[in-house]
Amino acid sequence: MCGIVAFTGTVDTIPVLLGGLRRLEYRGYDSAGVALQLPTEIKTIKRQGKVLQLHEAVDKAIAAGELGQMPTTGIGHTRWATHGIPNEANAHPHSDCTGEVAVVHNGIIENHAHLRAALSERGHRFFSQTDTEVIAHLIEEEYQATPGDLAQAVRTTVAQLSGSFALAICHAKHPGVLVVTRNDSPLVVGKAAYGVLAASDTPAIIEHTRRVYFLDDRDVAVLHQNGTIDFFDPAGTAYSPTAVTIEWDLEDAERGGYPDFMLKEIHEQPKVIKDTLAGRFDDKNHQILFEELALSAQEMSDVDRVIIVACGTSYHAGLIGKDLLEAWGRLPVEVAYASEFRYRNPLLTAQTLVIAISQSGETADTLEAVKLARRAGAHVLAITNVVGSRITMEANNVVFIKAHIEIAVAATKSFLAQVAQLTLLAAHIAQQRGEVDGRWVSELYEHMQELPAKIEELLTDTATAAIERCAAECAAAQTALFIGRGVGATTCYEGALKLKEISYLHAEAFAAGEIKHGPIALIDPEGLSDPRRQTPVIAVTCQSATYDKMLANIEEMQARGAKVIALATVGDERIAQLTPYVISIPKVRECLSPILASVPLQLFARFVALIRGANVDQPRNLAKSVTVE
Ligand code: F6R
Repeated sequence: MCGIVAFTGTVDTIPVLLGGLRRLEYRGYDSAGVALQLPTEIKTIKRQGKVLQLHEAVDKAIAAGELGQMPTTGIGHTRWATHGIPNEANAHPHSDCTGEVAVVHNGIIENHAHLRAALSERGHRFFSQTDTEVIAHLIEEEYQATPGDLAQAVRTTVAQLSGSFALAICHAKHPGVLVVTRNDSPLVVGKAAYGVLAASDTPAIIEHTRRVYFLDDRDVAVLHQNGTIDFFDPAGTAYSPTAVTIEWDLEDAERGGYPDFMLKEIHEQPKVIKDTLAGRFDDKNHQILFEELALSAQEMSDVDRVIIVACGTSYHAGLIGKDLLEAWGRLPVEVAYASEFRYRNPLLTAQTLVIAISQSGETADTLEAVKLARRAGAHVLAITNVVGSRITMEANNVVFIKAHIEIAVAATKSFLAQVAQLTLLAAHIAQQRGEVDGRWVSELYEHMQELPAKIEELLTDTATAAIERCAAECAAAQTALFIGRGVGATTCYEGALKLKEISYLHAEAFAAGEIKHGPIALIDPEGLSDPRRQTPVIAVTCQSATYDKMLANIEEMQARGAKVIALATVGDERIAQLTPYVISIPKVRECLSPILASVPLQLFARFVALIRGANVDQPRNLAKSVTVE
């Protein structure tokens, strides 16, 4: 949540900051601001709203001559409000009493109330309701204690903070210098040909450099206009970190001709699955390879329990992983919301394998769950999309999904990549434990190789037109229900989440066998006589052992006035007789059906959102990375 960007160098900082903020808007977009270092002062410009509004304000200031000569040092912020409503006063950057210090912050300062009270008693005046503002005032005090040493003032300030933070700071008395630091919030530092940058995430700086550094908790980096960076550990000892080269490029962070990132990312899914499969199969020994797992066959067979921890969409991927791991590996698997897991006293031993799934690798609850599991002696495997993310530093081992950067707030391609990766992992574990043989694994892998072409079939104009028609039938509804069985039910949980988060149409998913135990009461009986009152029910009805039961559930819903939209295997005549609203899915093994059926559900959610006039890439109240609990 919140995006920060900082630049100092030999070129105009304004386009670097505004360009970076635009690319970070997925992290928060209720207000934005910049602080620019002018020869004798720090000039701050903030606006409620999106980066576009800030851009207009900056343009006005330039036109009015308020920014003098081209500023080459500055910091910027795009906000997702936690403390204080989204208005201009609460927008970052925040300043101290003298106006010499400017701070941008991502995270939450947990002891801010106590610090604020103490600072107020010492005479500091506050201008916002934010937790961040205490940092500016603390730096003001600490700087008085060590005049001329901004890095030291930041270090002693940070020592007083508890909570999570990534900070970028500039000071009127230090032209061409920026100080950055972090704790439990992401921060990447990069070196370009014409200066140095720092940001919450790589998209903000990828246009300028792919050579980056990641700081450890409470490390401090001092960025100089001449392109040098000094790195210090929390004790103030200088060190030289190793640079990491980012593998994806600017094109990946652009819309590339698509009207929105969500559609672009949906269309990238065939490639994502291809990339996920690449290099995973040893066709000589008929084995799925997972070298990253670093557990021997013996250690693997010692594992007596698996706990999958995750949030949101990643949790849904975990539910699918559970079904496969139990069915194939014959291992008991629990899937837990990370936010719940961390506050109970879970049963963990050295024989427990904890799989933590997080696209961003930054989700606060998932990170805490990982730390808890490690402390209890469990082996933690992280499945993430982001190199250098926090989770990669906390887990024993890391498996990267191959989704590449995902910008739309709603997870799409990362979900498919997680499910594909978990499918391979479940097969690998099952094989390691001697539950399945090489032939079984080869067959599964062959079927998985057909997935990219099958996803392409779901993305053709004809296929998407059918989905759009179904979306138009539902867009005006008050609520939509999703039903399925087995992995079909899990596919529904994800489909309902996608629909509600981007279209704001209330949606709930149920295991179809459960509808008679309560949810069927939600069907509006007026739908029997008035088609406008029909409650939409999206039924995932792919071929499985429970197919006939699903048909019976569909008829029960229809008999009470529901309008059923069925996702069914291509050529399914029985479904066609039940409802005119059918979305066809290519034939596939049941275990792989979530990978296919999720694609039309993503498109369905997007179409409903567009019809209802919502912004599909930046849904209200949400942010891409949930770095606060
Ligand atoms: C929904 C969505 C969220 C995330 C959740 C966890 O489309 O994106 O539900 O899945 O916030 O995020 P990660 O996977 O980054 O831990």
